[in-house]
Amino acid sequence: MTPTTTPDILIRRATPQDVPVCGQICYNAFCTLNAAHGFPCDFPAPEVAIGIISMLFSAPDFYCVVAEIEGRIVGSNCLDERSAIHGVGPITIDPTLQNRGAGRKLMEAVIDRSHEDGAPGIRLVQAAFHNRSLSLYTSLGFDIREPLSCMQGRTTERAIPGCEVRPANPADLDACNALSHRVHGFDRGVELAEAMHHGTARVVERGGRITGYTTNLAFFGHSTAESNVDLQALIASVESFEGPGILVPSRNNTLFRWCLANGLRVVQPMTLMSKGLYNDPSGAWLPSVLF
Ligand SMILES: CC(C)(COP(=O)(O)OP(=O)(O)OC[C@H]1O[C@@H](n2cnc3c(N)ncnc32)[C@H](O)[C@@H]1OP(=O)(O)O)[C@@H](O)C(=O)NCCC(=O)NCCS
Repeated sequence: MTPTTTPDILIRRATPQDVPVCGQICYNAFCTLNAAHGFPCDFPAPEVAIGIISMLFSAPDFYCVVAEIEGRIVGSNCLDERSAIHGVGPITIDPTLQNRGAGRKLMEAVIDRSHEDGAPGIRLVQAAFHNRSLSLYTSLGFDIREPLSCMQGRTTERAIPGCEVRPANPADLDACNALSHRVHGFDRGVELAEAMHHGTARVVERGGRITGYTTNLAFFGHSTAESNVDLQALIASVESFEGPGILVPSRNNTLFRWCLANGLRVVQPMTLMSKGLYNDPSGAWLPSVLF
């Protein structure tokens, strides 16, 4: 679709009143995109997308913006400011108004904000089959870091010998943050504390110490561990993964093969991208859909 004129695009901070429209756009944008490429929709119903947008628009550590053309909301974007490294998404534009510059403006708004905050780096996860978002993010300075396989299912192995998985509690926070520093160079303690509060966080212990944690085995959760066996123990400890699935770094061939041998199925390919500081992780990890 080629625009005949460049419309005036207004970017402003999102408000709770914007939730129903932006949530519906989010649902429509991802379902339309995925359907065009033969993939299932990321959300089972519009209410799920509206619920996620509602949570993000009211979360204290998220900076969310909407784009308007002639007074009409055409899309939104969010910046996760919970850790030293910021995360972007979900960004969505009304499918009938895409490719007219609103997405670029929404990306520029969160990049500017992140720079003002002094964050050393920004990351995001992109639908690998989407030519437009790949091109947009690359032209804005994001580099491809990791191909990811979104995977769903239940592992046939239900436990890993020598690894004990249990719910995480606040007393585990320091050990988990230290682990994250060793693997990634920064921690995601705010996110982890929230996950402990919501009861989704788990830790794995091996040899009497914490060797891995997850905020949630889910699309919106991340996991960090010393080794693949620790991650395998976490993955094997749940019955299913919330949302479309977990994001397995496809270049972690050992883990990816173990997931396949255990019956997990690939749902869709995705890509981790970063702008600014990026350290190659030294350990085993699963990103969330934010990063
Ligand atoms: C991705 C999305 C947010 C982008 O918003 P948008 O308003 O459509 O994008 P814009 O018009 O601002 O920018 C698109 C850019 O990609 C370029 N582009 C589009 N298709 C391209 C292609 N096949 N190859 C190269 N460049 C391409 C356009 O020319 C434009 O570049 P420009 O700004 O230099 O002119 C929007 O398309 C969307 O909601 N998609 C569905 C949901 C989604 O995928 N969200 C992102 C999840 S990672």
